[in-house]
Amino acid sequence: MNTAVTLPTQQEDQTVESLGQINRQMIVILDFGSQYSELIARRIRETQVYSEVLSYRTTIEQLRQLNPKGIILSGGPNSVYDKGAPKCDPEIWHLGIPILGVCYGMQLMVQQLGGEVARAERGEYGKASLYIDDPTDLLTNVEDGTTMWMSHGDSVTSMPPGFELLAHTENTPCAAIGDHERKLYGVQFHPEVVHSVGGLALIRNFVYHICECEPTWTTAAFVEDAIREIRAKVGNKRVLLALSGGVDSSTLAFLLHKAIGDQLTCVFIDQGFMRKYEPERLLKLFQEQFHIPVEYVNARDRFLTALAGVTDPEEKRRIIGHEFIRVFEEESKRLGPFDYLAQGTLYPDVIESADTNVDPQTGERVAVKIKSHHNVGGLPKDLRFKLVEPLRKLFKDEVRKVGRSIGLPEEIVQRHPFPGPGLAIRILGEITAERLKILRDADLIVRQEINQRGLYHQYWQAFAVLLPIKSVGVMGDQRTYAYPIVLRIITSEDGMTADWARVPYDVLEVISNRIVNEVKGVNRVVYDITSKPPGTIEWE
Ligand code: XMP
Repeated sequence: MNTAVTLPTQQEDQTVESLGQINRQMIVILDFGSQYSELIARRIRETQVYSEVLSYRTTIEQLRQLNPKGIILSGGPNSVYDKGAPKCDPEIWHLGIPILGVCYGMQLMVQQLGGEVARAERGEYGKASLYIDDPTDLLTNVEDGTTMWMSHGDSVTSMPPGFELLAHTENTPCAAIGDHERKLYGVQFHPEVVHSVGGLALIRNFVYHICECEPTWTTAAFVEDAIREIRAKVGNKRVLLALSGGVDSSTLAFLLHKAIGDQLTCVFIDQGFMRKYEPERLLKLFQEQFHIPVEYVNARDRFLTALAGVTDPEEKRRIIGHEFIRVFEEESKRLGPFDYLAQGTLYPDVIESADTNVDPQTGERVAVKIKSHHNVGGLPKDLRFKLVEPLRKLFKDEVRKVGRSIGLPEEIVQRHPFPGPGLAIRILGEITAERLKILRDADLIVRQEINQRGLYHQYWQAFAVLLPIKSVGVMGDQRTYAYPIVLRIITSEDGMTADWARVPYDVLEVISNRIVNEVKGVNRVVYDITSKPPGTIEWE
């Protein structure tokens, strides 16, 4: 992407530390600020080869140490001619490791190796047909005329010595180039995005044929490595884990228990805002099926009392976060002492977190936040744990695979996102035991109907919201005056944007009838037809 944006300066930027895949093969992605760097890593991992996104500032020594089988230079928002445009160490070309430059990465390769890049007469944005000039190695099995996705304003106008043309498009004479001898390749398009039809074939060629990787990044290998690493790190120390019932904390609990047995203590703090039957199911699953003991803390009354009379959404979240910390603190003292806190940090958090907190004495990462979905601002100063984060190498879909492989039921593995404060942020106005019951019962009906029709996986989320107003209705011969329930059913790719789902009318009809007939205190159901933006997914 070439829209001039300046990347952070050396001081501002933090080199993302490698998580170290010492025993197995890996591909390193050097990130030049592309929005797709993470996606490239995911695509590589789909070929069962481990890959990590590192800063473009990663030094040659670090790269040598990591000894990757291949390096990919990502795209980026700059032009290679911009003042302060990010550059990698030119030594990289002499490492003898295969390199694939994507978009900006290709242009950088060309510039540093003696070719030329210039502002294109016509930029190319969107789909383009790729015509193959050399159907060998990088483009093996990539169909002539296949669609690839372009997004660039600069183009390669002259190839560096030793390079040959591999493919072109109508507007881009050098769409793919390569130096077979040195195993250096560049593509102007983005093979990682879903619109690039031949993209995955190209990536597989790079990974398997050019870098000669084996498909070693498998769920079984991950579990094996994770257990070994947990044991090495934790030794005979004790670990505390806050179980929430989601796939991350459940998978985490399972791995840790397998690795260190009863050195692990799982505590499940029931704030009272989970969905109907969820706490019971979670406990049953862990204790009866997995034989992992869970300390159940019933804090329902405590949260309700703390929230009495509170209607402001921000205030609710603040109180819930604060209360969670207090309960957690009390429990950790009661059950402790503990040396480690287990956190369900995932790889995107690692890539994105610039605020990694390191203990200056030990150099260990320390907890300042319990995973953000608990919406906890920070732990008190005297309650600082060291962290154990066995999922930190994984993307969400990989956690699901691991979760599935260790026997987590689909209802946990595939669960829709559920906010940390739970139903509390779906009850507008005051949260009372009576209103919680109404929402829980309505929510169960929404889930039942969506599930029974096999629609669950079509939606990102599907839930009910309770409003703090009443309206008039009529049931039998009686006038009613009761709450409305809002149905919020949405589709989304990532939760950042969303659209309201076009749920079949007959499904909406059944949900509405059942809620009004079965849930006492509700006499009206409305459907939220607001996209995000401008609406948010949750109502508070
Ligand atoms: P919004 O409402 O901001 O939600 O459009 C985007 C996604 O985030 C979830 N969400 C939360 N998750 N704690 C969470 O762990 C929260 O406080 C929270 N608020 C919203 C929401 O369900 C949706 O998937």
